[in-house]
Amino acid sequence: MKREDIHGAARFLFSCKPWLVLTGAGISTESGIPDFRTPQTGLWEHYDPMEILSRGVLLHRPEIFYGVGLQVLLSFEKAQPNRAHYILAEWEKRGWVEGVVTQNIDSLHHRAGSQRVMEIHGHLRSGYCLRCAKQFPMEELEKQVMQGQIPPRCPCGGVIRPEVVLFGDLLPPCFEEAVQLAHRYPLLVIGSSLQVSPANFLPSYAPSLVIVNLTETPFDHRASWVLRGKASTVLQLLHEELESL
Ligand code: APR
Repeated sequence: MKREDIHGAARFLFSCKPWLVLTGAGISTESGIPDFRTPQTGLWEHYDPMEILSRGVLLHRPEIFYGVGLQVLLSFEKAQPNRAHYILAEWEKRGWVEGVVTQNIDSLHHRAGSQRVMEIHGHLRSGYCLRCAKQFPMEELEKQVMQGQIPPRCPCGGVIRPEVVLFGDLLPPCFEEAVQLAHRYPLLVIGSSLQVSPANFLPSYAPSLVIVNLTETPFDHRASWVLRGKASTVLQLLHEELESL
């Protein structure tokens, strides 16, 4: 990535602010959370998501879901936001970011201070009863699983499941909000392979596109600017350039 790319992308972004931001697992790898598809280290190199994190496994093989799938997801709950998360929160405060659409379930955007966060793949902060829809903090699910109660159950007898969007689930209502915003605002994509639908519909709706990613994506050819580098490094360079405008 050349200095003039940062210079050009910053001028472009400054001229069309505010932007909608779409983040993927790549923004959290510098917080110690592996992404899904990077060769050797990606989570899906070691687990088949359909085997451990699908709606079907939750309902029919809860011992696999709660014994393996949820443990994999919860093993990163100590992760902290990194510089990229904090810069996005700062840009929102300045009115440069309209909102963050994230595919991530790690809550790091919230913890970095971003206010308008659309978690289109859900989150791991809580769960709900499949029978009566009663809400539970994740700690309650973890406590029951640790005590051998698999699947965790609501006092009404129903199974409690996490809010995370599983393979086979519908996306939450905030995805519709993300689609509306994507039609109106330039889209800044950070740390996503853009291989998973329907999140990867958003770049097609946006009036313009800037991509920050370590590797190529199927949408690079549509982007006004592609910045090939680590999210925290690139966002810091963009931040310094934007501050000078
Ligand atoms: N900086 C920038 N890009 C990075 C960094 C980094 N520090 N680390 C990794 N990347 C890039 C990788 O090169 C990859 O292209 O981030 C991208 C992450 O892509 P995926 O692993 O496919 O993650 P994501 O796009 O978020 O996956 C979408 O797939 O399995 C589902 O539900 C899961 O939300 C996830 C969805």
